[in-house]
Amino acid sequence: MTRKVAIYPGTFDPLHNGHLDIIDRCLPLFDEVIVAVLFNEAKSPLFTTEERVDCIDRLLGERDRCRVVAFSGLLVDFMDDVGAQTVVRGVRAVSDFEYEFQMALMNRRLNPRVETVFLMPSQEYSYLSSRLVKEVFSLGGDLRGLVPDLVIERLRARYGELRQR
Ligand code: PNS
Repeated sequence: MTRKVAIYPGTFDPLHNGHLDIIDRCLPLFDEVIVAVLFNEAKSPLFTTEERVDCIDRLLGERDRCRVVAFSGLLVDFMDDVGAQTVVRGVRAVSDFEYEFQMALMNRRLNPRVETVFLMPSQEYSYLSSRLVKEVFSLGGDLRGLVPDLVIERLRARYGELRQR
């Protein structure tokens, strides 16, 4: 029988608890879940691709059917390379829908074998985004309970470096 392999793609700059919540909802549904970090240095992310992959790798911890990799180019091509059939995306609110709908249909057009499934994160994370995490942290807000402690440490280090420049 074909192994059910899901890709959970994203920028993850940085990963927050809403992302981990989606990963934990995926794991019972698939044999393997691959967190795929987009290599997009042109967008000037706060963390390099290597830093994001390293952080997620540590945070996946004991989740042994889940791994993290970086990818570039078309998502559907990467999925062929790793033998994945399903894209998993989290949807938080109706405002996410239009973008997600466009991506899902474009990916289907590019590769009709690829199916996209949408999962809702726990309500407590439904307003959370990486953009807000960075904004709140940079302005001194409290992110405890919204991002893992490791992400807080990494944010502190990165903003510390940026302030010294
Ligand atoms: O976390 P994000 O930024 O919403 O994730 C977007 C991502 C990485 C899923 C999307 O930009 C993507 O798949 N990029 C790879 C390039 C690609 O395949 N583009 C066509 C998809 S419609």
